[in-house]
Amino acid sequence: MQEKKILILGGKGKTGRKVGERLTDLGKTIRLGSRRENPPFDWENPETWAGALEGMNTVYMTFQPDLAIPGASDIIKRFTTEAVKNGIQKLVLLSGRGEDKAGVCEQIVMDAGIDWTIVRASWFNQNFDEGFLLGPILAGEVVLPKCETPEPLVDTDDIADVVVASLLDEKHNGQTYELTGPRLLTFEQATAEISKATGRDIRFSTLPMEEYKKMLAGSQVPETFIWLIDYLFTEVLDGRNASVTNDTEKVLGRKAKDFSEYVKETAASGIWRPTKQPVNQA
Ligand SMILES: NC(=O)c1ccc[n+]([C@@H]2O[C@H](COP(=O)([O-])OP(=O)(O)OC[C@H]3O[C@@H](n4cnc5c(N)ncnc54)[C@H](OP(=O)(O)O)[C@@H]3O)[C@@H](O)[C@H]2O)c1
Repeated sequence: MQEKKILILGGKGKTGRKVGERLTDLGKTIRLGSRRENPPFDWENPETWAGALEGMNTVYMTFQPDLAIPGASDIIKRFTTEAVKNGIQKLVLLSGRGEDKAGVCEQIVMDAGIDWTIVRASWFNQNFDEGFLLGPILAGEVVLPKCETPEPLVDTDDIADVVVASLLDEKHNGQTYELTGPRLLTFEQATAEISKATGRDIRFSTLPMEEYKKMLAGSQVPETFIWLIDYLFTEVLDGRNASVTNDTEKVLGRKAKDFSEYVKETAASGIWRPTKQPVNQA
């Protein structure tokens, strides 16, 4: 069997970094796809794609900022075509659970004529320590658009384990997995768990969507991110994802990680301890 040579797009991001670490520990040949690597990979610059694909035969695809954004399907179509032309034999695509607008991109990958696995994830736990909620947690005040729908927050450890299995084992070809955590939580409940574990007073409040978007625009948040928040909170968080799946257990033979375990580990890391440093909320 041919040796796997795996390009990890978003290789320094929340799931890509962990996928890379796991594959390296297993002695696999990998290349991190990143604007900061040599060769670089940039979704916005197709001229970088061939260099990143060269010599690889498998790709873990994470798109930025989200497969649902207008125009994403054109980029995915162009990249997938180029990947096949460059000898890629398998694509594992990270998608968002319940994101109907991401379906077109998933279908492009499924129709590429090579092996594929789709991994649809719910909201990551790590949005609270590696993503846009870290700044508010450190500031002691989380403000989000009004939403009482609970979400089965999933841990990137579980996503990375499922992605690695999908990349390495052909039995996952042609499968679509929906990954959730084992428990439904509202954003208010999740914030309260972090508040309790850190012993810090972290307030939670909501704003009507239009006011929230104005607040983001006033803080120079990019328009695409504002569009995405609107889409996620008005469409995807309408209750369609308010259930847990057992796909993690099906693939890994163990239970999905609970939010409380994530909170315990992350609190112990010290990242939620405020310092005087300015906080990058990207
Ligand atoms: N976060 C969630 O809760 C969630 C839930 C379900 C699905 N997803 C999906 O997971 C994917 C990753 O989402 P994430 O927000 O969590 O981000 P992430 O995986 O943490 O990715 C951040 C990385 O994106 C890379 N990046 C940014 N712009 C890029 C560009 N133009 N070209 C190449 N790389 C670029 C950056 O890499 P460099 O700076 O190294 O280039 C950065 O390391 C998205 O498709 C998202 O829809 C996310």
